[in-house]
Amino acid sequence: MRIAIIGGGYVGLVSGACFAEFGVEVAVYEADPTKRQMLLEGQIPIYEPGLDKLVAGNAAAGRLTFPVKLQDAIERAEAIFIAVGTPTRRGDGHADLTYVFAAVEQVLKVLDHPAVIVTKSTVPVGTGRKILEMVRELRPDLAVEVASNPEFLREGSAITDFMRPDRVVVGAESDRAREVLRQLYRPLYLLETPIVFTGLETAELIKYAANGFLAMKITFINEMADLCEKVGADVNDVARGIGLDGRIGKKFLHAGPGFGGSCFPKDTLALMRIAEEAGAPSRLVQSVVAVNDARKEGLAARVVAACGGDVQHKVIAVLGLAFKPETDDMRESPALPLIRGLVSRGARIQAFDPEAIQTARPLLPESVVLTESSAEALTGADALVLITEWNEFRVLAPARLKELMRGNVVVDFRNVYDPAPLRAAGFSYASIGRPE
Ligand code: UGA
Repeated sequence: MRIAIIGGGYVGLVSGACFAEFGVEVAVYEADPTKRQMLLEGQIPIYEPGLDKLVAGNAAAGRLTFPVKLQDAIERAEAIFIAVGTPTRRGDGHADLTYVFAAVEQVLKVLDHPAVIVTKSTVPVGTGRKILEMVRELRPDLAVEVASNPEFLREGSAITDFMRPDRVVVGAESDRAREVLRQLYRPLYLLETPIVFTGLETAELIKYAANGFLAMKITFINEMADLCEKVGADVNDVARGIGLDGRIGKKFLHAGPGFGGSCFPKDTLALMRIAEEAGAPSRLVQSVVAVNDARKEGLAARVVAACGGDVQHKVIAVLGLAFKPETDDMRESPALPLIRGLVSRGARIQAFDPEAIQTARPLLPESVVLTESSAEALTGADALVLITEWNEFRVLAPARLKELMRGNVVVDFRNVYDPAPLRAAGFSYASIGRPE
């Protein structure tokens, strides 16, 4: 089987490499010449554990190619995946579909055989139907089907998520489209992965509903954490105590600084707009968006409070910049409002992240010093603020902190440290939703 993937970004590259690993012939078309050149030379423009090896291995085996021309990429392809970006449109919070429709139009111009066009990018409900209209209008001569196959990959564990998903969702309205997708995901049948076949609109909504629900779960436990702080309860135990109820589930109940990343903030905002425009506004989703934004904006004030009400001229070591560990992605990272807030209050920032230094640099105020190690960031610091839970930060011992820092404040936005040893070593330790 042969397929094409339009867009060599995160989703396109991971899906392409994984389908190739399944034994499918995959052509990934990347329109940006610089990015394409990097891919051709075996350089992966993003940090995702295992992706470089998977791409290199499948490229060497000839199953994964990066054609220069779109026409060559879609030649003989039975399925053509659209995996281009859908950023938030300025002004109204909707997903910007310019790239999606442009990609479909270009494909339709040069397509010379029947195929299934599959949306893999997260697209608003109704997009598949619009693509179907484009097909009927531009290529009434060809049997082109449309399907929606949303992805549920997490950055940092994208390959495992693709290879061992909880489920695959396929929105399609013809037997042929369903059959092509069924064939593609065949290797997952051995793992007994359920495939949920639905209509186009339903598949599109499942993606938003899944992200909306997970974002709501995180926001709920974050609010419970604030309540815990007021009443002297421990949010980690609350999460465990409710999560063991199978109806609630343990995952995504880790209280923290608020969610970030390229998906939850964008998708909750888009879902909010979709629901409003459809005449069924979701007050829950509206609240999730507002509560999470406010939480991230309030992070600096929490640090100021932990530092005794003032951070003017204080040196603050910020550990972690990426929105979560195992990625260099800074999009909507809570570290950004945190650092901006601290700098505007006169603090001096020394920050370190194992992967995100380069992506973070242009997004941060110039006065922020980016260091090459956590030890360097901690040297001479009045306070340590942990914002991304990389494993290497978890193992920093209180004795080592004492050695490096000049102050004794630790603010742990991810609840990774054990309070007792830190307090025993003389640190003033603040975390999220745990008793003082
Ligand atoms: C998320 C979803 O988990 C994926 O299923 C989905 O495919 C993807 O969005 C997408 O739509 O493409 P991702 O953004 O990579 O994946 O990262 P997550 O691991 O879900 O984390 C998102 C944010 O929530 C991070 O800021 C993380 O720190 C935060 N989070 C997560 C918490 O604060 N607490 C938790 O318990 C879990």
